[in-house]
Amino acid sequence: MKEKQEDKLYICKPCGYVMKESELQDVCPACGLPKKVFEQYKERMSPGRSRILHLDLHPIAVHFPQTTLVFALQALLINLFFPNFYPEILLGTAKFSAVIFPFTVFGAFLSGMIDGKLRFKSVTTPILKKKIIYSTIMLIASFFTPFLAWKGIEDLQSKILLLICGTIALICGIVLGHAGKRLMNIGMGGAVKIWGRKF
Ligand code: HEM
Repeated sequence: MKEKQEDKLYICKPCGYVMKESELQDVCPACGLPKKVFEQYKERMSPGRSRILHLDLHPIAVHFPQTTLVFALQALLINLFFPNFYPEILLGTAKFSAVIFPFTVFGAFLSGMIDGKLRFKSVTTPILKKKIIYSTIMLIASFFTPFLAWKGIEDLQSKILLLICGTIALICGIVLGHAGKRLMNIGMGGAVKIWGRKF
């Protein structure tokens, strides 16, 4: 354990890959440049913030709205095109997903705010502002889904309205995912990954 703490970190200057000193090889495992391009790397974040960030709360939380939404849309679309194919199961799945959807979006939103604040100390940077705008639209779209499902998911009008809300949320989710991907592994001074493991 002691040995682990004393192992210095080194960063590949051109690509940002970070490794422990004891694991350095002749070339950078990420970009293949020779070992001489590495320089010592200092973690700029306090251990407390770093520990919370490494719980990966936001990257985990974002999977819940994504999965719920895909389930709801799939079930609704199959039911629209094949109304006699297990209608109770499909509409039950869509109804359940529509009811829990806003809670999952809220979880992703909250964990994103915490993640952004811890990583960048402020959530008013251009990408984070964009993320707040799109997640607010996603949250608003998600508020309608339980009411529409409650109203009676069986009628065509509710199904179409649910599909519209779901599609708006899906587009926001794609934009948020792309923006989020660009934020992964920065703000800690570089790509803090060692052989695929976060350090
Ligand atoms: C429903 C809303 C949101 C969704 C669906 C979402 C989606 C995502 C996704 C897919 C990623 C990439 C995760 C990965 O590849 O493992 C990500 C990363 C990130 N998002 Fe969000 N996001 C949401 C809201 C927010 C908000 C409101 C903020 C802050 C203002 C935020 C800040 C971040 C940050 C800082 C990262 C990088 C995470 C890391 O490196 O640990 N997100 N987001």
